Amino acid sequence: MSESVNQIKINLAALSHNFRAISRIVSPAGVLAVVKSDAYGHGMLPVARELSRLGAVAFGVAEVWEGVALRQAGIEEDIVIFLGCRPAETAEVVRWGLSPVVFELQTINELSRQALSAAKKIGVHLKIDTGMGRLGINGAEVVPFLYHIKELGGIYPAGIMSHPPMADNDDPTSTLEQNKKFSRIVKTCLELIPESAVHIANSAALIRFPELRRDMVRPGLSLYGCYPADNFRKLIDLKPVMSFKTRVIQVREVAKGCGVSYDHKFVTQRAGRLAALPLGYNNGYLRGLSNRGQVLVHGCRAPVVGRVCMNITMIDITDIPGVVPDDEVVLMGSQDGAEIRTEEVAEWLGTINYEVLCLLGNNNHRHYC
Ligand SMILES: Cc1ncc(COP(=O)(O)O)c(C=O)c1O
Repeated sequence: MSESVNQIKINLAALSHNFRAISRIVSPAGVLAVVKSDAYGHGMLPVARELSRLGAVAFGVAEVWEGVALRQAGIEEDIVIFLGCRPAETAEVVRWGLSPVVFELQTINELSRQALSAAKKIGVHLKIDTGMGRLGINGAEVVPFLYHIKELGGIYPAGIMSHPPMADNDDPTSTLEQNKKFSRIVKTCLELIPESAVHIANSAALIRFPELRRDMVRPGLSLYGCYPADNFRKLIDLKPVMSFKTRVIQVREVAKGCGVSYDHKFVTQRAGRLAALPLGYNNGYLRGLSNRGQVLVHGCRAPVVGRVCMNITMIDITDIPGVVPDDEVVLMGSQDGAEIRTEEVAEWLGTINYEVLCLLGNNNHRHYC
């Protein structure tokens, strides 16, 4: 099969470096590796296999089908389903031994029924909303909910969890307050279910707040070598796992005053040279990068000029001598000592690094090295 010239490179050595760096700072807490959304665009199966080998104690995915795919690929660690499961999915959860997050009684009743009829025990993670304002039950509902779980057969409370919305904020007050609230609820829970694993920390929380590390941490972004915010760089050394490369398909001389690409949103101010790249918004290299993005050619930055199209992007290489067709172009990553970071691409697009990883990683061919 012929391959796309647009290639996402996934550096497994960098993944391993990040996993070890995280494990080191959180030890003795275990690492529940978040591999939802195709491991943030890095490819769920190869990433999970590598992290399993390195010692991840559990994996986190969004939906049941992702958990099934992990099991079918041979992953044996606990698999926590962050969005829980619908009653119709409970049989599959039982069959594959997955651990859904629970926040809703109808589902756990059905899960219990299915588990009992299969003579299995399914671990569930109770999600408590302590400030995220998203999924989960309120603190006041926790005790009756736990009694309900304990009365039902076939399921057991494997975890008590919450999620922090503000751990990357400069001001730590809200996260520390949230942690106090969570700790009060956890104390009550552990009197009833002392064996449950407690977990709340995403990347920002686990890096910055030792008191949030508890029994397990749930890193996603940091595993993939990105920082929640710039001031986290001094707290942990992470290496970017994903880079994005293509090759020049044409080099053209252009006169001054030449309109470039749809709508002529760029008009050359001098005679010069442009290069055409064989990618565009179909590859997650979005139109918002028109006249904004930059790429690396021969280790130098070249600006994206004119509208990014579905499959073609133009760059101005007037100031970079010697560029010829087939030369490597780096859209994200390093080349000859220069670097374009995920955060820069995110800034050009007016978004966050998470979104850039998913956009690029999930819309291009991936290569593992
Ligand atoms: C429940 C839960 N835990 C952990 C994470 C990982 O967060 P991060 O990528 O910021 O480390 C996510 C991601 O959104 C999540 O939904």
